Amino acid sequence: MLILAHRGASRDAPENTLRAFNEAFSQHAHGLEFDTYQLHQDIIVFHDRWLHRTTNGSGRVLDQTITTLRSLDAGFGEQIPFLHEVLALCPGSSICNIEIKQLHDVPAWLQCFDDALHSSRLTTDNIIISSFNHRWLREIKAQRPAIQIGALTASFPVNGPAFAAELDAYSIHVTLDMIEESYVREAHQAGLKVLVYTVDMPDDMLMLKSWGVDGIFTNVPTVARATLGDYL
Ligand code: G3P
Ligand code: CA
Repeated sequence: MLILAHRGASRDAPENTLRAFNEAFSQHAHGLEFDTYQLHQDIIVFHDRWLHRTTNGSGRVLDQTITTLRSLDAGFGEQIPFLHEVLALCPGSSICNIEIKQLHDVPAWLQCFDDALHSSRLTTDNIIISSFNHRWLREIKAQRPAIQIGALTASFPVNGPAFAAELDAYSIHVTLDMIEESYVREAHQAGLKVLVYTVDMPDDMLMLKSWGVDGIFTNVPTVARATLGDYL
């Protein structure tokens, strides 16, 4: 079962910072999950719409200049990273789930993504692009069919994972609060991988493993590794 560090090893380091991502690999995560905003011509790595919870700044992320964002302290003196900085630190064998929180121009986003990927050791096979906004995912998939799409959901629709299959998604990313064993079975029958967020308790990890879940997002990769071992 894949262990993906949710916002990096975010229990032990400030979330969505290079420090948290390096810590995730030190804790032997198989890869990362992180959140992104397209801002002007750049892609920055950040979760909230507002700055105050995780930085010494204030105001809305989308109202800032890149210079202002980069001047902020995101914890322990860490800067808000660019996408290319995160991909550059990833081992060539790792998996990166890039969650899109904001996107306004798909061609410009793809250009920025391509540049970041080319300056890393990763290929498109190492990447999953996810979002709760399935129209953005559909647009990315239409313009770049080789990209693996992860359909994020916090619900268990009556027709199960059909929406993800319609998107030609690689995977479905389901909240731990909604997941049931039948959902996993239906998703696998539809040819989808199943990744579950956010899983920090060993009992939940073991339950999901017994259901055949393909991966988890966890704030505590070190706990997941101790619980699940090297099982992939
Ligand atoms: O991608 C899974 C999970 O990260 C989605 O929720 O709010 O933590 O970005 P959130
Ligand atoms: Ca996320």
